[in-house]
Amino acid sequence: MENVKLNNNLNCPVVGIGTFMLSPADAENSVREALKMGYRLIDTANAYVNERSVGRGIKSSGVKREEIFLSTKLWPSEYENPNAVEETLERLGVDYVDLLYIHQPAGNWLAGYRQIEKAYREGKARSIGISNFEGKYIEELETKWKIVPQFIQVEAHPYFTQKELRKTLDKYGIKLMSWYPLGHGDKSLISEPLFVDLGKKYGKTPAQIILRWHTQMGFVVIPGSKNVEHIRDNLNILDFTLTDEEMAQIATLDKNERYYHRTDAQLVQFAAWKPGFEKK
Ligand SMILES: NC(=O)c1ccc[n+]([C@@H]2O[C@H](COP(=O)([O-])OP(=O)(O)OC[C@H]3O[C@@H](n4cnc5c(N)ncnc54)[C@H](OP(=O)(O)O)[C@@H]3O)[C@@H](O)[C@H]2O)c1
Repeated sequence: MENVKLNNNLNCPVVGIGTFMLSPADAENSVREALKMGYRLIDTANAYVNERSVGRGIKSSGVKREEIFLSTKLWPSEYENPNAVEETLERLGVDYVDLLYIHQPAGNWLAGYRQIEKAYREGKARSIGISNFEGKYIEELETKWKIVPQFIQVEAHPYFTQKELRKTLDKYGIKLMSWYPLGHGDKSLISEPLFVDLGKKYGKTPAQIILRWHTQMGFVVIPGSKNVEHIRDNLNILDFTLTDEEMAQIATLDKNERYYHRTDAQLVQFAAWKPGFEKK
């Protein structure tokens, strides 16, 4: 597995599996199968309400905890809960996570950031991150952080490459982890003729070409899937390299267009919503 080196010298695998919108049963199954076939990075969140199942998938895979890079996220309604980190670890069934994000710039997000900084100092999180902190949010946080985050997790794919944000990230060596790397499965992105043609050239699917593009952009990529064939394909992207010319062709697809448009009203709703955590 290829790794990227983070700004605190920790290594993180360049490809992992995401678990957004996976039911507990699907999350457990996908995580177990992914680990058995060689994945070493898993991304979940309080809000996905599948952390216990992810923890079970890890245990039943037989892969040692220390070989796995486990990422999760505190939800805004947890930012002021002094036990949020401990409770998250308990649900996952681990003593530490490798990456702990605050999920949204909603509610008292500075309290959330202070919690993850504390978890970092205490060794409960080996790296920390911010999710969806684009524009004014990262600008404000930049003036307040005591520990520079290792990651930002944001929407990124060939139609939306986060050009502006990357200027700030480069200043601090913050790595970008792409969400919606396959446009949340959007057929029009996956069937772009350029990806179909490149797939034929390299003996890969269009989705594999897109995921390879992410890694060559320097992004860490966490495609979500409950389909074992897709999970296998999504890991099998590191045995070919797109040329500079092909990367330039893909760059012409950038429309600076997101799939997901968050509003300020949604941020207020996010802060009020409490995940109904799995009981066991
Ligand atoms: N921080 C945030 O706010 C945030 C927001 C969204 C997502 N995320 C994270 O990012 C991860 C990825 O995002 P996502 O799962 O929403 O979207 P995605 O990875 O872009 O797309 C997932 C969709 O693509 C399909 N798919 C996966 N592999 C495929 C392949 N090889 N060929 C064809 N189709 C394929 C999946 O269906 P099958 O199940 O049939 O394979 C699923 O419908 C999430 O799981 C989550 O961990 C974070």
